[in-house]
Amino acid sequence: MDLPLTTSLRGRDLLSLADLTTDEFHALLDTALELKRRWRDGDRPRLLEHLTIAMIFEKQSLRTRSTFDIAMYQLGGHSVLLSQNYIGWGVRETIRDVAHNLERWVDGIMARTYGHGTLTELAEHASVPVINGLSDLLHPCQLLADYLTLKETFGRLDDLTVAFVGDGNNVCHSHVHAAMHAGARLRIACPEGFDPDEGVLAAARSRGADVTIVRDPRAAARGADVLYTDVWISMGQEEEAERRRQAFADYTITPAWFEELSHRGVFMHDLPAHYGEECTEEAVYHERSVVFDQAENRLHAQKGVLVQLLAGG
Ligand code: CP
Ligand code: NVA
Repeated sequence: MDLPLTTSLRGRDLLSLADLTTDEFHALLDTALELKRRWRDGDRPRLLEHLTIAMIFEKQSLRTRSTFDIAMYQLGGHSVLLSQNYIGWGVRETIRDVAHNLERWVDGIMARTYGHGTLTELAEHASVPVINGLSDLLHPCQLLADYLTLKETFGRLDDLTVAFVGDGNNVCHSHVHAAMHAGARLRIACPEGFDPDEGVLAAARSRGADVTIVRDPRAAARGADVLYTDVWISMGQEEEAERRRQAFADYTITPAWFEELSHRGVFMHDLPAHYGEECTEEAVYHERSVVFDQAENRLHAQKGVLVQLLAGG
């Protein structure tokens, strides 16, 4: 199969899955699947030969950092790791100046930030593609890997019922966008006061997203094909830890919850897991869990993104 490269993605930023058309969303998944197949078959296409990305991290990361780095290497390119400690952006020099330096050297920038505005400011000034490696608002690359996993697991995406049980956070927001493109039904179970952003919901619903908010997490899981959770205390929310632990006290997923799922239902988590909070270790290591498939697919999803944005068309 040829790579489903689309000229419309070449040179673009990837800050939000909402910025994509549904065709572009599927093209990213299909490119990733094809690159995964080729790698498994021993094919080593050097699609990003001589290309370089900078990776900027304001927060910690295992999966995002490793998989972008490895994806660049396996496709013949190179990555440069920059942490806030190294560059001190916004302190040592402005984000605008960082952008105008990096764009002279690299072919793309992947950044993980606290404020989403930091990413949009970077993207506004940088002439090369900027990829969101997680902000407080969104985590688009995670959901690409997750829907890649669902495509492999179920074959099709448009008849799935996905239950996201937890905080209406960055991962939840990208769930809304991914379900919108995939045509999946999304149930979000969260305590009052922890709902996803109304603007994200309204915009996705106006594009046909089928998203409902429920207050009973066990009811959200009932009959679902996917039970998905994420941490209650995201990076940067440590001071709210106790209030959050109390609010989410009924939200700890154990394998007993899996009996509520459809016969084919799977458990997902983007990791890292805070065991004893959003789920137990038994849930992650259960036979219904596809958590480490998701982690594996971060690599292939990043390849799809990098090839489309840096070499597409
Ligand atoms: N899921 C995820 O983004 O993992 P990291 O924070 O380790 O990159
Ligand atoms: N919601 C989590 C996701 C970590 C990958 C956080 O922002 O910390």
